Amino acid sequence: IPVDPFDLVIFGGTGDLARRKILPGLYRRFCSGQMEDNSRIIGAARSEHSTEEFRQMVADAIAEFDPKSGTPEMRAEFLERLEYVQVDALGDAGWQDLAALMSPGRVRAFYFSVAPSLFGALAERLHTHGIADDQTRIVVEKPFGHDLASAKALNADLAAHFDESQIYRIDHYLGKETVQNLMAVRFGNMLFEPLWNAQYVDHIQITVAETVGVGGRGEYYDKSGAMRDMVQNHLMQLLCLIAMEPPAKFDHDAVRDEKLKVIRALEQVPLQDVVRGQYLAAGADEPGYLEHVENADSKTESFIAMKLRVSNWRWAGTPIYLRTGKRLKARSSEIAVVFKETPHSIFGADAGRHRNVLTIRLQPNEGMDLFVTIKEPGPGGMRLVDVPLDMTFAEALGPDAEDVPDAYERLIMDVIRGNQTLFMRGDEVEAAWAWADPLIASWEERGDKPVAYESGSTGPEEALALMHRDGRRWREIR
Ligand code: BG6
Repeated sequence: IPVDPFDLVIFGGTGDLARRKILPGLYRRFCSGQMEDNSRIIGAARSEHSTEEFRQMVADAIAEFDPKSGTPEMRAEFLERLEYVQVDALGDAGWQDLAALMSPGRVRAFYFSVAPSLFGALAERLHTHGIADDQTRIVVEKPFGHDLASAKALNADLAAHFDESQIYRIDHYLGKETVQNLMAVRFGNMLFEPLWNAQYVDHIQITVAETVGVGGRGEYYDKSGAMRDMVQNHLMQLLCLIAMEPPAKFDHDAVRDEKLKVIRALEQVPLQDVVRGQYLAAGADEPGYLEHVENADSKTESFIAMKLRVSNWRWAGTPIYLRTGKRLKARSSEIAVVFKETPHSIFGADAGRHRNVLTIRLQPNEGMDLFVTIKEPGPGGMRLVDVPLDMTFAEALGPDAEDVPDAYERLIMDVIRGNQTLFMRGDEVEAAWAWADPLIASWEERGDKPVAYESGSTGPEEALALMHRDGRRWREIR
């Protein structure tokens, strides 16, 4: 379904995120017929370029990051929609040129793909130059703050010029297909919700494992670490969707109100429930974490595992374990809801102990598995075995599932449609920092150093022990 005609301005239009994700994503939406003919995309940045040069840069980006979509004619047509304007975020140069490019009566969206320190200046100039109106939408990226104080300051900068209903804070995990499917599965089926609580669920595991290291992002990453880079935002969002109460409707404030309640119900995590790690080098070609960053004594973690408790009626007594890290064995993200064992086994001790597990695979190979216990075929008596009911979306839904839009594509289209459901509200971001800050402060005050782990492993041994001591174990990273 095409969206209304729009003018989308990308500040930081020549930057890395624009080249890798935003512009190729818009191109794919164009190819699928979602962009009306008169919609336009305007790259804006500090450097001097002609529109022709910008179009060439975008053509190169599409060739590099999405060589398969569309036809040469489609590419040429898409490039025609692009303009470039040089603007000075902190001065006055270029703003009148930008104002002149805006078309009346269209949705106006401004993507701030720039350092957060520029958010306030951009928001202000959009107003002083008469470019923003009350239909204008602005899109901001993480990192949304470094702690509670800086997140509050950013929220205040934006709130000085825009209403909350105009601000779209992206967490690209919310745009992932399976993440949305999680809500469909929970609230579109009768099967799960009655069991979705501490009475039936033993624990929940959320794993986001990456094979990449910090690479060229050492300068940013070393100031953040896995807690700020992944847990405060992406993993927190996953946790909220898993743990929240059913919203009354699938609507922006109804969903976000419920997510906020989960964050506010999180207990503070004692340090004995946290494991932080740093990856080691793997041979001469794969440097270790400390070689990727400037500070050879860095205490920043590239891996973190922890045990959380959501202190409310639904989840009291059911821990949620999180782990995420770089340079791990495989790129694999999954959520597992591990149900309790049956209260009594009628099959005797030999049948072993079994439990149902619902796994939700975010990437790769998106889909879900529900492990159920059945009889092992054959004459060997009542032997039980756990088998997965596999729901790989690409298999179940056929070719439609293969055309799943990338997270950024979907989210940008939601901005144009004016749908904020999959974006973070200011109070949610602040609540997540309010939870994260004291924990970060507790290891910083003690001067704790992360433990080392082998590249290509499942993370530090201590993370395994975090589960073992509770008589549980992590699911395999595959
Ligand atoms: C980003 C983090 O937000 O998410 C990166 O800054 C991380 O460090 C990335 O690699 C992971 O995203 P995805 O979509 O590849 O799982």
